[in-house]
Amino acid sequence: MSTPEMIQIPSQIVQKWQDIVDLLAEILRVPSALVMKVEPPNIKVFVSSESEGNPYEEDEVACLNTGLYCETVMRTRDLLLVPNALVDQEWKVNPDIKLGMISYMGFPVAWPNGDIFGTICVLDSRRNEYNELYKKLLLQCRDVLQADLTSLQARNELELKVLERTAELRRSEVYLTEAQKLSRTGSFGWNVKSGDLFWSDESFRIFGYDKALSPTVDMALQRVHPDDLALVQRTIDRASSDGKDIDLEYRLLLPDGTVKNIRVVARAVRDAAGQLEFNGALMDVTAAKRAEEELIRAHAELARAARVTTLGELTASIAHEINQPLAAMVANGNAGLSLLKRATPDVAQARDAFTCIVDDGLRAAEVIESIRAMFKNVDQEKTPIDINKLVRDMLGLMLGELRASHVSVETKLDDNLPDVRANRVQLQQVILNLIRNAIEAMHSVTNRARVLRIGSAIHERDGVLVSVEDSGTGLNPKDTARIFDSFFTTKPQGTGMGLSISRSIIRGHQGRLWATSGTDQGAVFNVLLPAARPADGKTMSGAARGMGPFV
Ligand SMILES: Nc1ncnc2c1ncn2[C@@H]1O[C@H](COP(=O)(O)OP(=O)(O)OP(=O)(O)O)[C@@H](O)[C@H]1O
Ligand SMILES: [Mg+2]
Repeated sequence: MSTPEMIQIPSQIVQKWQDIVDLLAEILRVPSALVMKVEPPNIKVFVSSESEGNPYEEDEVACLNTGLYCETVMRTRDLLLVPNALVDQEWKVNPDIKLGMISYMGFPVAWPNGDIFGTICVLDSRRNEYNELYKKLLLQCRDVLQADLTSLQARNELELKVLERTAELRRSEVYLTEAQKLSRTGSFGWNVKSGDLFWSDESFRIFGYDKALSPTVDMALQRVHPDDLALVQRTIDRASSDGKDIDLEYRLLLPDGTVKNIRVVARAVRDAAGQLEFNGALMDVTAAKRAEEELIRAHAELARAARVTTLGELTASIAHEINQPLAAMVANGNAGLSLLKRATPDVAQARDAFTCIVDDGLRAAEVIESIRAMFKNVDQEKTPIDINKLVRDMLGLMLGELRASHVSVETKLDDNLPDVRANRVQLQQVILNLIRNAIEAMHSVTNRARVLRIGSAIHERDGVLVSVEDSGTGLNPKDTARIFDSFFTTKPQGTGMGLSISRSIIRGHQGRLWATSGTDQGAVFNVLLPAARPADGKTMSGAARGMGPFV
């Protein structure tokens, strides 16, 4: 806040005051009419009449506290009239007498806040009573001066306020520009009808244009990645016709080949004339997008690493999974050989046995391929599968083993099940592992029937549940938390890989595999898989369809 003393008196006002003192000197017929200005520790002749015999020069300075007439006027804030200082005890030795000025009439001049500006006064080299009319005239002139000071101060305050506001605006503009730079967010305004477009500095930077250019919608479109152009154009067309807010992500392709990911959020508003305008922000989300992609990649890598803890795990998995086809091949090979060794070789049956060997060989190859893919984290082809048929096929495959182990089979398969989307070979492996575990769990059972119950049903919404129940030894509570870990086994010849592989497979299908205790002392293993939807294409994964994982 400035004090009034700091206010400069503009030249046109000085000129006006000059006219006033000239007139005063002429009308009052005195040699001096002055406007004095106090500038502690001095007082200065601010304006001096151009009149004959005037000893006071403009800008002349006198020290205060020397007994000047004006000092008394400023102190008392009142009129001082000295008709003849020479006969006045109080004024006999005042400094103006040296200049020959022996009579004085003056009024204080003050700023609107009461601070003293100085005085307006007339001086004469002769005795002068200054009649009432002259007094009034001087007072009037004083009021004119004070009115000028009032308007000057008002103008000054206004100017100061404008300056302050301007500085404030500049400051916030600088902050805004900095904030936009830091957050890589530009702002823009767009009047749909007039086509007027405003971009902030950061918007220019994001689009890669020179700030000196006047932005246009075409300029913005020129920077859009060709693959996203149709989307952007569509969004602009739609927003300008329906006047709805915009929220859009797309890519820019800059002339130097840089690709940027952009998110545009804009609010539709109507201007004073009711015309549609968009005010919005343009965010360069390239870094965030990259970080997100990195995160997804790291996550996938972590999931893969978690699956393949060691190379041994892969070897063990392959060994585990191809055991069955190998055993079947040996059995069929032996059968084929003995059929050929007969006195009259049964060529037809031997051919069947060898066909089975070929099938088993192919199956082993498929199993190896499927395990390799699982460990390499490659998405396996998934097709709609009738899980009841798959269960029946597997039971057929295991018939020999089931019979040899004296296990009877009970199935309760729901015929109205929807298909599941799965990799056939992998799902066969899971069912096979569960059946084999069930058979093994019933080996030691001698006091009750060995029953394998397989059921299928709709579970919750969208899910298909397959349960494999046995009447075996059941789950040991202290082991239940670990049975799905790789290499966890309670069997002398076991690898401990069966359940671990099975759970990986089911998780890879966005499903869930878990164990519970059976009704008949044994254990139940439950497989829950998302149902396929009729519209499912062959190559889409469950996650891509927006199906929530069960795990
Ligand atoms: N049906 C079941 N009843 C009781 N316990 C089971 C059953 N299935 C699995 N388990 C327990 O879980 C452990 C791990 O099973 P998993 O199939 O992973 O390996 P494994 O059967 O021991 O070995 P492998 O599969 O190589 O023969 C088993 O050793 C057993 O203790
Ligand atoms: Mg097993």
